[in-house]
Amino acid sequence: MSLGEPQTDDTEALQPGQALAESVSAVMHSRRTILPKRLAAPGPDAAQLHQILGAAASAPDHGQVRPWRFILVPNDARAALARAFGDALLERDPLALPEQVVQAQEKAYRSPCLMLVVVNTDCGDPGIDLAERHISTGCAVQNMLLLATALGYGSALTSGKALKSNGLRRLFGLGEGEHGLCFISLGTVQSRKLSPRLRPVPADYVSTLALNP
Ligand SMILES: Cc1cc2nc3c(=O)[nH]c(=O)nc-3n(C[C@H](O)[C@H](O)[C@H](O)COP(=O)(O)O)c2cc1C
Repeated sequence: MSLGEPQTDDTEALQPGQALAESVSAVMHSRRTILPKRLAAPGPDAAQLHQILGAAASAPDHGQVRPWRFILVPNDARAALARAFGDALLERDPLALPEQVVQAQEKAYRSPCLMLVVVNTDCGDPGIDLAERHISTGCAVQNMLLLATALGYGSALTSGKALKSNGLRRLFGLGEGEHGLCFISLGTVQSRKLSPRLRPVPADYVSTLALNP
């Protein structure tokens, strides 16, 4: 594992308090999935992308195994990804219609900034189990989505059966212990067709441990 610059604890510089909490909360609550077909150029510029990718590094990471990495898909690799999507569909369903194959391929061209999220089930301390690795990956991804939201970009996660296909694994050079979890798409929101999203409230998902007398 390689470790880069040490991160300083700059909580003091943050001026913690209600105002900061409200800003963070506003970013969290304004994040909505914007489907990749509604994300257009411009995507984040190089400095913004660096900042967004850097947000992943703040994720909790038990044992510092850094079980995640991200593989950017530049424009000149989209055709290869399209082929992998089409081939994956035909691998699953040899009777897929040509228009279904085209539909699968088209997904490779959506959104100006596209990357694959990869989790590693084997790296580092074997005592850090898969669930912990997935949680760390989810935290890293959410950090990135929130920073992208704060910068004004729309975002989406997309998954699908193609992620498990041999062709896609080969294309992205995934190692034995590596798995493609989902794609992250980032871009400028073209249109929003958002129905109000009912969010659960803490009473729906919180209980208090009650000890028997
Ligand atoms: C790992 C992961 C994969 C996802 N894959 C898809 C997907 O393939 N297609 C899709 O429409 N949404 C996908 N989503 C997004 C969820 O559908 C979305 O977060 C959910 O509907 C809630 O909407 P919100 O993000 O606006 O709160 C994925 C979410 C996660 C966490």
